[in-house]
Amino acid sequence: MNRYVVTGGAGFIGSALVRGLSAEGRRVHVIDNLSTGNLDNLEEVADQVTVHEYDLRDYNRIAPVIAGAYRVFHLGALPSVPKSIQDPVPSHEANIDGTFNVFRAAADGKVGRVVYAASSSAYGDTEVLPKVETMAPRPKSPYAVQKLVGEYYASAFATCFDLETVSLRFFNVFGPRQDPTSVYSGVLSIFMKCLIERRSPTIFGDGEQSRDFTYVEDVVVLLIKASRANGVSGKVFNAGNGNRYTLNQTWKLLQKIEGVEIPALYGPPRPGDVRDSQADVTAAVAELGHQPRFTFEQGLRLTLEWYRADLARKQSGRKAGASVLV
Ligand code: UD1
Repeated sequence: MNRYVVTGGAGFIGSALVRGLSAEGRRVHVIDNLSTGNLDNLEEVADQVTVHEYDLRDYNRIAPVIAGAYRVFHLGALPSVPKSIQDPVPSHEANIDGTFNVFRAAADGKVGRVVYAASSSAYGDTEVLPKVETMAPRPKSPYAVQKLVGEYYASAFATCFDLETVSLRFFNVFGPRQDPTSVYSGVLSIFMKCLIERRSPTIFGDGEQSRDFTYVEDVVVLLIKASRANGVSGKVFNAGNGNRYTLNQTWKLLQKIEGVEIPALYGPPRPGDVRDSQADVTAAVAELGHQPRFTFEQGLRLTLEWYRADLARKQSGRKAGASVLV
């Protein structure tokens, strides 16, 4: 009963969590179909991790891995708002069917608790900032709907099947190992790659949209706290930093950090995009002991350093920590 399972554990956030759990001496079972995850992300902790290369849609395979676990962190998903609009079926299946399977397997297998990676996209456009958990959700994209359905399942499984669940709404997580190579990649990973390669990024819209960018290590600590806090089952918490920066401010800050001037290009706004995003973290602070440690600029500097070192490793032919900047 002391087994930890991380779905999506070979991904950017999942692998950071696996490293965090491994640093505590835990043995971790990862379920990941490697569709967006990468085993290189787990290289440093390979001897403490068992990887099950299964798809979350495949109940019969994932159920035995989940059964009897002490804690399950459900981070496996097909991310990206635009991807869910371009091609909604795979993200629906992974994010809704896959999530249902995880909760079902956890309830059947008497798991101690499931911590679910929900998304700030559930809020959609709200008139009031920061966004607080008591606001009515207004999902704008299939991705936002899918992630919200997962929250509803988390609460329903807590109520109806006596399964402990906690949902954390992630707010634009960034950090080392975020893969910048796809058009669906998180904006900061794309900005980092552009900066290092001295190229202009394309900003969709006027660049005045804002995000509560949250450094991955703060999210890892909060995930672990959410897995242990008392009296929180069935609840939903914002897992953000509490600040917000526009894309224009962010690109400017990155240029300042790097000491370069590279004007951004501008393209049409992206369908399904939320305008502003900022977390009210009062509940997470009070009930989970959330305490973000990294300012935005600290997180950007650490991430930039990592991408640069990764590129240098690649160029010198050594094995990289992750497949980025290809
Ligand atoms: C959304 C969720 C986030 C979730 C993520 C999963 C919100 C507020 N946030 O992130 O919680 O984890 O989905 O994928 O809904 N952009 C550019 N140029 C680029 C790429 C992106 O300007 O090359 C812009 C986008 O149009 C958007 C912003 O950057 O306005 C952030 O985009 P992205 O990093 O993809 O994340 P969200 O869609 O905000």
